[in-house]
Order: sequence, then C-alpha cells, then structure tokens
Amino acid sequence: MAVRYELIKTCKQTGARLGKLHTPHGTIDTPVFMPVGTQATVKTMSPEEISEMGAGILLSNTYHLFLRPGHEIVREAGGLHKFMNWPGAILTDSGGFQVFSLSKLRKITEEGVSFRSHLNGESLFIGPEEAMKIQNALGADIIMAFDECAPYPADYDYVKQSMERTTRWAERCLTAHERKADQALFGIVQGGMYHDLRAQSARDLVSLDFPGYAVGGLSVGEPFPLMYEVLESTVPLLPSNKPRYLMGVGSPDALVEGAIRGIDMFDCVLPTRIARNGTCMTSQGRLVIRNAKFARDFGPLDPECDCYTCRNYSRAYLRHLIKAEETFGIRLTTYHNLYFLIKLMERVRQAIAEDRLGDFRDQFFAQYGLGEN
Ligand code: GUN
Ligand code: ZN
Repeated sequence: MAVRYELIKTCKQTGARLGKLHTPHGTIDTPVFMPVGTQATVKTMSPEEISEMGAGILLSNTYHLFLRPGHEIVREAGGLHKFMNWPGAILTDSGGFQVFSLSKLRKITEEGVSFRSHLNGESLFIGPEEAMKIQNALGADIIMAFDECAPYPADYDYVKQSMERTTRWAERCLTAHERKADQALFGIVQGGMYHDLRAQSARDLVSLDFPGYAVGGLSVGEPFPLMYEVLESTVPLLPSNKPRYLMGVGSPDALVEGAIRGIDMFDCVLPTRIARNGTCMTSQGRLVIRNAKFARDFGPLDPECDCYTCRNYSRAYLRHLIKAEETFGIRLTTYHNLYFLIKLMERVRQAIAEDRLGDFRDQFFAQYGLGEN
C-alpha cells in the first residue's frame, strides 16, 4: 500500500485525531498543513527552506503542470520529486478544481471538462482518465480523483447531479489509476452544503474503498459556521482508519476547528498568497506590514515567533522591502506565514496528545481573534 494512516490517539476533550501518515517519501505527523507549490515550487522558497521550517509534505497542481511544462517532461525528469529536488512527500490535486477557477470557456460533460488554457487559449480536455494519466506521470505520493467542486451558492438539483457525476468519475479514476503500489488515490466527497447529498457522496465513495478521503467543495465563500456544520455531518461517515483531508482551507481558526472535527490534512494558498502583498499571520492576528504605523517599528514581526524572519528582521525593514517591491521582502513574509501555520499544527498535535485541544482553541482565539482570519 502506497500510503498508510496510523491513528495514534484521539483527544479526550474534542475527538481530534493524532496520527501518522506513512508515505514512500517519509512519515508525516497529522493533523498537518501542506504548503502549496502550484508550479512545482512554493513561490519564493527553496526546498531546503521548506524542509527546515518543518514541512514534510507539499501540494502541487495537475492543471498547471499539464499546461506547463507538460507531464511528459516531468516524467522524463524522473518525476516531480526529482524535478523540483524535494525529498519529502507530495500530493497533487487533480485539476478538477483549477480548471473551473482558472480556465476559460469550460464545458462540462459526462466525459470530462473541455476548456481553453489560461496561458495561450489552446483547446484542451481533462477527464478522469486524463487526470490519472497526468498524475501517474507526475508521480506524487498521493493523487486526487477528478471531481467537480460545485459553486456556492448552488441549487439542490445542480449539486446533486454534479455530486453523482463526481462519484462516477471517481470510479473511472480507480479503474484508470496505474500506480496503485506507490501512489495512493484519494476520493473527494462533494455535495455542497446539503447534508443528505454529503452523506450520499460519503457512503458511495467509502464503498469504493479509497485509501484516503478528501472533503471538497468547502471554503468556496460560505460562512465558516456552515463549513463546520458540513464537516460535522460528513467526517463521521468516513472510515477512522484512513486519512481525511479538507481541501483549500488554511486560515488558522479553520485549521483548529477542522482538526477538532476529525480532519488530518489541510492545504491552502492563503499563507503564501497574502504574504506576497505583505499580510502576515501573527499570534495577535493578521498584520498588514505596509501600514504606516510600522515605519519606525524596529521590533520583530511576531514577538512570539522564532522563525528566521522574526529572529533577524524588524517590522520597519519588512515594511520597507514590501513597499519597495523587493523580492527579499516577500521571501521573508512567505517564510514567516508558512512557519506560523506549521508551528500552529505542531501545537495542535501537542494539545491533542495532552487531551486539551478545546482549551488550546479558547486560548489561541482569545489572542488571534475569530472570523475569516
Ligand atoms: N481544492 C479546494 N477545493 C477543492 C475541491 O472541491 N476539489 C478539488 N479537486 N480541489 C479543491
Ligand atoms: Zn516569524
């Protein structure tokens, strides 16, 4: 088996899970946040830096690598790990999400999705078989089924049709997947905000016996309390001996609330994306480093952080670099934001180990603040 989930214990206070994800490229402690390296790089960071901040698994994207440089080139390079010089584990998303958010003139049929490249307008097609062929060539440790993430809001009938098609696509993915020995294919639960559709999706995918399950179709603009409700009705239907991955979620409060609801893995562009416009996640909440009030602030970005950025540079210097559009500035804010989330998950795991994740949540949010942070 390509990937094995080992449940270490559950938190007596919350039910959150402490576990280990054993992959061909190392063992990852869960719950875990996975930095996003869309184009086979975490923007501005070297693999050594990612590794040094404590990340053991990265996410990359089928859609982007299919368009450029093309999966055949990555295969010829010896696979994604070798191509990007990343010795840790990799998960690739299937393209079933990016094709909807990025490409133009999409047309979705039972076969798959026809679209035009956002780079050069070329007419292309990805269906379940293509998504498997591309991901088999990229060679990530975990690959994702080709799915449709319904928009929010969407009416019941649309979401039902879309979810049922996603289940049929998941079956086709299982059939087409040619590297079951070293790549674990995860199914993706859809069903929008409708509890009965989520339940049907979960039941049908569980009967297909995937080695892991993702909850997709969340963090698409719905209020966080609604996302938590959907998790509460969906996660208990997933097998406890397999990993559960909440896709596209990376705000600190949602990571803690997700872990409390039994999620083991998360990914999101949030920390790296906001870093590039100078927004930093700190123990006191979000901090916009461009703000004039930091012009003469010679203290660290986050006094409670011991990352490379916070140990060596001041808020005033970071503000100057970001305002001057110096690339070193975005390297420093990116490093800090990723470090912040990776350390947050370390603290979450420690709290689970000590049966006090509920207390940790209360303390953390008293400082960080609640909401879409
Ligand atoms: N990333 C965030 N949400 C989703 C989703 O629903 N499906 C896929 N494939 N990727 C995602
Ligand atoms: Zn820091």
